[in-house]
Amino acid sequence: MSSNIEIIARPLALHERVRTWRTQGLRVALVPTMGNLHKGHATLVARAREHADRVVVSIFVNPLQFGPSEDFNSYPRTPQEDRALLDEYRADLLFAPGVEDMYPPLAAPHTVVHVPELSEILCGAVRPGHFIGVATVVAKLFNMVQPDVALFCDKDYQQLAIIKRMATDLSMPLQVIGVATVREADGLAMSSRNRYLTAEQRRLAPRIYAALSKVGQELKQGRRDYLSLEQMAIAELEQSGFKTDYASIRDADDLQPPTENSRKLVVLTAARLGRARLIDNVQVDIS
Ligand code: PAF
Repeated sequence: MSSNIEIIARPLALHERVRTWRTQGLRVALVPTMGNLHKGHATLVARAREHADRVVVSIFVNPLQFGPSEDFNSYPRTPQEDRALLDEYRADLLFAPGVEDMYPPLAAPHTVVHVPELSEILCGAVRPGHFIGVATVVAKLFNMVQPDVALFCDKDYQQLAIIKRMATDLSMPLQVIGVATVREADGLAMSSRNRYLTAEQRRLAPRIYAALSKVGQELKQGRRDYLSLEQMAIAELEQSGFKTDYASIRDADDLQPPTENSRKLVVLTAARLGRARLIDNVQVDIS
């Protein structure tokens, strides 16, 4: 598969390229990814195009956000297909650094970015250090690209909340935008980790979205017995063979347990099916 997209691996070369665009008065968008691109990423690039004149997509499987027993080594890497897709999506530049470009050996032990509290709950409670890895690499990408706007998928709701908080707390001069999750026809949220599912697991996987949507509907109809709704979702998923890390109803703004003032809620889950750990969420307006 051949590709035409400009590819840069070195941060300094990237910086120069983006600076040239800036002197031409062009707005720059960044779509950070770990590659293995799918239609969800196509939507992110299309939305980025609405906000900027140039769209940079980064592909970097970030070792810092994987725990020792997690899937860093086996995470799907499909560089040739990704390049061809980025041509098709009409991205302008692919930034594809190596581990040594992002984390030069001289920098160990290096500075990290920790967004407190938000990083320790939900997925953070199950994956200690994960969100430090995410916030650190995203901060580095923001510094390297210096985009006007950066776009992330809503599927990783907690990640998006943490990145927004980091950008605010550290006065980063850019806009962080969440883009609605792209789903398969049967409701399964698109994700690179769907590749880990066997045919039978793939058949069961949409039950995650179904369970979350059911809770969402109950909330819309006025139920506020959060604990039993969470337990209902967990029981449904476990009956289908999932191992649920959590299913939780939170205030959509701060990811804390809802209060009587909460107007927007989010129902989130992380559930394991075979090798795949799948996450998803449904947002509910109860005002
Ligand atoms: O969501 C992802 O793919 C990653 O966590 C991100 C934001 C690219 C950071 O490595």
